[in-house]
Amino acid sequence: MKGVLLAGGTGSRLYPLTRITNKHLLPIYDRPMVQWAIEAVVNAGIRDLMLVTGGTHAGEFLRLLGNGHEFGIDRLSYGYQERPGGIAEALGLAERFADGEPVLVMLADNVVERSIRPMVDAFCASPVGARILLTRVEAPEHLRHLGVPELDGSGRVVRIVEKPDDPPSHFGVTGIYCYDAGVFDVIKTLQPSGRGELEITDVNNHYVAEGAMSYDVLDGFWGDAGESIDAYYMVNDFVRAYGANKS
Ligand code: DAU
Repeated sequence: MKGVLLAGGTGSRLYPLTRITNKHLLPIYDRPMVQWAIEAVVNAGIRDLMLVTGGTHAGEFLRLLGNGHEFGIDRLSYGYQERPGGIAEALGLAERFADGEPVLVMLADNVVERSIRPMVDAFCASPVGARILLTRVEAPEHLRHLGVPELDGSGRVVRIVEKPDDPPSHFGVTGIYCYDAGVFDVIKTLQPSGRGELEITDVNNHYVAEGAMSYDVLDGFWGDAGESIDAYYMVNDFVRAYGANKS
């Protein structure tokens, strides 16, 4: 299995901080944000990674990460997204890198308290379809910023709604996804959403419709440090107090 880290986009919710750098290079406690996602993926046993970014600060990732060896990566590839056309578009740039293998995808602004290895191991045991990681979220106003699954009586995902006005459950879809190599063909069928992006939720709903979607519920803290300035500081405070990527 290969790893794809997505670190493009505009980071507009963190303006003006992100006018002068890429969001994923902002500090979370004692290191740049992207390093926490790298650590999560490497600790899950994945050493062959591609980082996709874009914009005017892309070169800074090379300065920070180099060949990746210092971070436990065997082979680090880079992809460049010409414009922020959405998470699914950014993932599509990794098709040749994946070369027919399944992929673990992580949004580089996501931070987890505990290891994501159980989810990766479960997918690797049967690497067909898609597997997503859910997190319990109580506040409806927080769910309105996320992808939210509707679950049926037996706990299966019926559909996922992106940023719902009326959240259909108390779970958020985290930015951590496992896909088989068919994901790249799914991406080619997508149409841009109302905000002009290729949506990862449309990819996930494709797998739901095929009956090929499974999920785990994350244990411990999860944060999206790019959601808002308040979320950014909340994630900073959590990591400073309790750490992240614990086994
Ligand atoms: O964090 C979890 C949420 O992430 C999910 O619950 C949502 O279903 C999912 O759509 C996504 O929502 P966001 O609103 O947080 O997505 P955002 O546009 O902030 O992009 C998240 C990351 O994806 C960002 O850190 C960098 C990467 N990205 C994004 C875009 C739009 C790219 O690499 N390229 C892009 O064009």
